[in-house]
Amino acid sequence: MSTLAGKHIVLGLSGGIAAFKSAELCRALVKAGVTVQVVMTEAAEHFMTAVTMQALSGRPVYTSQWDTREANNMAHINLSREADAIVVAPASADFMAKLLHGRADDLLSLMCLARPLDQVPLIVAPAMNREMWANPATRRNVAQLKLDRVHVLDVGQGDQACGETGDGRMLEAEDILEDLEAFFAPKILAGQHVLVTAGPTYEAIDPVRGITNLSSGKMGFAIARAARRAGAEVSLVAGPVHLPTPRGVQRINVQSARDMLDAVQAQVSQASVFVATAAVADWRPDAQADQKIKKDGSGQTPALKFVENPDILATVAQSARAQSGALFCVGFAAESHDLLVHAMAKRIRKNVPLLVGNIGPATFGQDDNALLLIDAAGARELPHASKLVLAQQLVADIAARLK
Ligand code: CTP
Repeated sequence: MSTLAGKHIVLGLSGGIAAFKSAELCRALVKAGVTVQVVMTEAAEHFMTAVTMQALSGRPVYTSQWDTREANNMAHINLSREADAIVVAPASADFMAKLLHGRADDLLSLMCLARPLDQVPLIVAPAMNREMWANPATRRNVAQLKLDRVHVLDVGQGDQACGETGDGRMLEAEDILEDLEAFFAPKILAGQHVLVTAGPTYEAIDPVRGITNLSSGKMGFAIARAARRAGAEVSLVAGPVHLPTPRGVQRINVQSARDMLDAVQAQVSQASVFVATAAVADWRPDAQADQKIKKDGSGQTPALKFVENPDILATVAQSARAQSGALFCVGFAAESHDLLVHAMAKRIRKNVPLLVGNIGPATFGQDDNALLLIDAAGARELPHASKLVLAQQLVADIAARLK
């Protein structure tokens, strides 16, 4: 469920080596259901051909304000009136300086100047050398462009085409796409701080062995992503999982249930919503051996004793802020059978207003799932869909409850 599907975006390229990423961005936008009209400056054509962009967008590219294809010869008016947004990527230092001064001596800058301010947002993805990015002139220009209602995306950090390392790289195509998804998503969680736990925990037996479970963390990561798109500030306390951090989300990595509880307690006082998706290990070995436990040749197995881990959700749910309604708590239930009965009982036991049930063995590691939302009034099913779609539906449900 992309918020971009059905949108029409004018993708502008100004001159920069990052133009190769715009080819990828164009393809990703088309894949997300966007119609893309490419406009290139003369400088951009030194880095990328219009033919490439035409093939990827499926539309002839505009490069000149004198384009005779337009019956009224006003490409700058026609193109901007049709757009849901103009996205300039890469936006060079020179192009941003032009925007700032309202100069309009080529089609792209002319079109940006001519766009209806209230209807067609302008989003720019800067790309330049680190010294150019740090220069007071660029700093001034970025600050002023923001005041002029231009949405300036962040820059990336790392190796640059010039051989230097630092800030100023254009964001990767997937990051720009995610920022565009967030830009268009309704900001139903604006002003909220959402704290999410995700993934399994790992309970060490000795330095090389431990107990964990098959949770992939995908549902919790999808919820963090959906909440950020919805305008929330998001903190994600993650057990050991191999998933990229969702863009714009603060991630805190932990190993054991006790680490997870500590991290949650350090964050929760700022949160207004707590979503516990983590598959926390119920038990841990009562002592962790300092050294690897060796076989002694007798065939005897080590006698492991377990103690119960703290219940993170129940601990948070009984805090004064949760009880007063200042913190809205959502639990998850991973069951193997009798989902409704177990999840209803678990909601009451954990003392949370909303509990989300799912069948554990069917969902662990998968990209899709089905959920059962249970509150005091009853149950509502969210049918089988991708975890990101379910996360968006859950976020919408939570937002409605916060009103
Ligand atoms: N949970 C938690 N801390 C624990 C155990 C569970 O925060 N030590 C949270 C989970 O993140 C989830 C909810 O409690 O939101 C239910 O987790 P689940 O594993 O389904 O239930 P358990 O409490 O472990 O109960 P049981 O094993 O009896 O099903």
